[in-house]
Parts: sequence; structure tokens; C-alpha cells
Amino acid sequence: MNVLLLGSGGREHAIAWRLAQSPLMGKLWVAPGNAGTSMFGESVEGVRITEPAEVVALAERVKADLVVVAPDDPLAAGVVDVLTAAGIAAFGPTKAADEIEWSKSYAKSLMRDAGIATATSEAFDDPDRAIEYVWGLRGPCVVKADGLSLGKGVTVCDNAEQAAAAIDAAMRGGAFGAAGARVVIEERMYGRETSAHAFSDGVTVRHMPFSCDHKPALDGDRGPNTGGMGVYSPPGWLEAPVAEAIRTQVTERALDALRAAGRPFKGVLYPGIMVTTDGPKVVEFNARFGDPEAEVLLPRLRSDLLEICDAVAHGRLADVPVEWDDVATVGVMMASGGYPGTYTTGHPIEGIGDVDDDVQVFIAGAKHDRQGRLVTAGGRVLCVVARGATVAEARAHAYDNVHRIKFEGAYYRTDIAARADEPLSIASHR
Ligand code: AMP
Ligand code: GLY
Repeated sequence: MNVLLLGSGGREHAIAWRLAQSPLMGKLWVAPGNAGTSMFGESVEGVRITEPAEVVALAERVKADLVVVAPDDPLAAGVVDVLTAAGIAAFGPTKAADEIEWSKSYAKSLMRDAGIATATSEAFDDPDRAIEYVWGLRGPCVVKADGLSLGKGVTVCDNAEQAAAAIDAAMRGGAFGAAGARVVIEERMYGRETSAHAFSDGVTVRHMPFSCDHKPALDGDRGPNTGGMGVYSPPGWLEAPVAEAIRTQVTERALDALRAAGRPFKGVLYPGIMVTTDGPKVVEFNARFGDPEAEVLLPRLRSDLLEICDAVAHGRLADVPVEWDDVATVGVMMASGGYPGTYTTGHPIEGIGDVDDDVQVFIAGAKHDRQGRLVTAGGRVLCVVARGATVAEARAHAYDNVHRIKFEGAYYRTDIAARADEPLSIASHR
């Protein structure tokens, strides 16, 4: 089978690595790809992956039997719909099913109708009305740009003053571009976060293990939010009945509601969850693998990822095995100093060859320079993923390997997965 994978991050490196292990794999193409995916497939530059017609033309040129769409923006642009219309199998939701991610207000109305627990919220198109509303709340809230904004369109506020400033920046200052023309204002939830992931072909659901991202830039969950600084799986603090409630009352309810709305969901549904003292509540829905969640989930997948993606695309998920290794994985993101603010790039990366054989280094923002050296090329540079019998063991193993990789200005959090086994009752009263 020839496969075209869209995307260029650490997530796509992990996906390419697992797809390439499949005995079904013919040739893999990745657009645009990166220094990591290029170890498994041929990179194609110069194609705009958010332009459906360009993706179809590329898929036809490379004779792709399957297109795997990993990032959010080509999904929101309707790439899957146009591929399907052209008779090319695609892994990922249609634009209508993907609305659960690209419009927070649609996600909220779906949750309301389906009885899925989430923070109370209101959507506003008028900044004056939004500001009036937050002053009326008299407490902490969260201001979210309605559209996609690289995970950076969310401001968690302690008071109305901060919220008013965030509304002003989004709606009048254009901080998130067109995505901020409408804002959603939510009740602020307290608790611990976890990422649920499931494969679905529109009918059958196969849940993945749970994982936990660390979004803030600094140790102790301080500093600005990033795309994710590290991740672990599974969370020991997540009690079995709560995990089951998330699977049935969130993921399955959402998939059922989408199907009932005539928008059957094919691909990966990833609800972001806050486990509160009132039970699990949805923070947001994503319609794709998380990044860096994919980097710790895919090493645990025992089954054939290509077989699964192909089965999802063809509505045959019930016929293929989806099994997971009972191990723990921890991923530590190494970033350019200054990220998520300004940083410099082009610094040579040393030591990747010195990591242990059972450790994966997934490349996010790095490339080969003219001399063929691997150099930094982005904010999040690479994710070092180790396994172990427990999260604590995997964590020690990950950091032992992180210390072998060097580049100028390298920055990473030192507390990834440090609280993975701390009981929820302690954590939620911080
Ligand atoms: P999102 O892009 O919606 O996942 O939001 C990014 C991050 O902001 C989440 O991972 C949470 O840490 C935080 N966040 C979003 N919504 C809320 C909320 N209602 N209450 C507390 N924190 C939130
Ligand atoms: N891990 C955050 C995201 O992929 O949205």
C-alpha cells in the first residue's frame, strides 16, 4: 500500500515510524515532512496541505492508496472531503465531523444536547457584551478564541480584569487572527487534566490508553501555555471508574451524537478532560492525535497502525486488532530557549546517536543544514521517549537520555511525570 502522510511535527515522526513497520507498507510519502519522518518516507515540499486540490493532486501523483491526515488545519480545510470525492481513501474526519474541534461553540452545543459534562460557557461576537459578561461573573474564568489557534487561543484568568484584557486582545487586537473574532467564555475548572484518545470508523470505537500532557512552559505548571512540554502514559492517579466514565459518557456519547447528526466521525477523537471533584468534564475536543500524546501512545501500540488506519478509512475497524503494551512511557520535550516566546534556531544538535536502543527521539522542529548536520529549526525541537515497567522507571530512563542530547539554549522541564502517581485528592487541593 502506498501511503501519503500529511504533517511535519514530532507526532508525524511517531506516526511515520509506526506506519513504516507495517508489512502492508509499500512506499511512504510525507508532506511536508521533517528530519524525523524522512528516515521512513520521502518528504514532499512545496505542496500546501491546507489546499485540498493540491493534496488530491499529490495523492494522485504518488498513487497513494491511503492519505493519513495528522494535523488539525488540513482537516478543518476539508481535505478529507475532497479526497473522498476523488475516490482516495483518507484517515481523518470530514470537515463537518471535524467541527467538533474547529468550532468551540459547535462543540459546546453538541455537548449540551448529548449530556456531556463540560464547563458552562457563553459565546460572544461583540467585545462590549463579552466584557460586560465577565464583570458580571465576579470570579475566575477562561477566555477562548472560537477557532483554531495552535493551542494558544486560551487565556486562563483569575479575575474579570484579566479576562477583559484577554477579550480585548482577541477581539480588538487580533491576537489570534480570524479565530478570535468570536470568543467563548467559560467557567474555570479545577482538577487534573488527562487526554483521552480513541480510534473510530464512524461506528466502531477502540479506546486508547490515557495520557497526560504538560502544557505550561515552566516547572510546577507555571509560565505561559505551550504546545506541550512533556507527556506520560498511563496516569496512575486516574481511577478505573473515572476512566470508564470518560470512555462511555464522553468519547462514546460524542461519537454517537456526531453519527446522529449525520456527521459520522472517522479518525482519532481526542477529548481533553479535566477530572474535577464533580467528576470528569470536557476541556475541549480534538479530532486528531495529540502532539506530544502520539509520541507516548504509539510506542505502546502492539498492533499494526497502517492496518488500523486503513480499516478506519474503509469502515472496517471492527475487523482488526487494536492492542496495547502494558508498559509506561514518558516523553520529555526539548525546546529552544525562549519558547513559546522568541528563540534562535540553526544550532547543531549533538548526542542523538548516544541514546539507548529502547529510547525514541522524535524530531519536531529540527532539520538538516547544508553540511548535513541536524540543527534546531523550531520552538519544540525534539521529544525523548522512554519506556519502563512504571511511569517512575520510564521517567528516570527518559531524563537519563535527555542529558545526553545537547544543543545551544536547550530547555526542558525537569518535572515531567513527577506527579503521575500522586492521588487526585491531594492534587486537586493544591
Ligand atoms: P484548550 O486549548 O481548550 O485545551 O485549552 C488549553 C489549556 O487551557 C487546557 O489544557 C487547560 O489547561 C486550560 N483550560 C482550558 N479551558 C479551561 C477551563 N474551563 N478551566 C480551566 N482550565 C482550562
Ligand atoms: N497536546 C495538545 C494537543 O495536541 O492539542
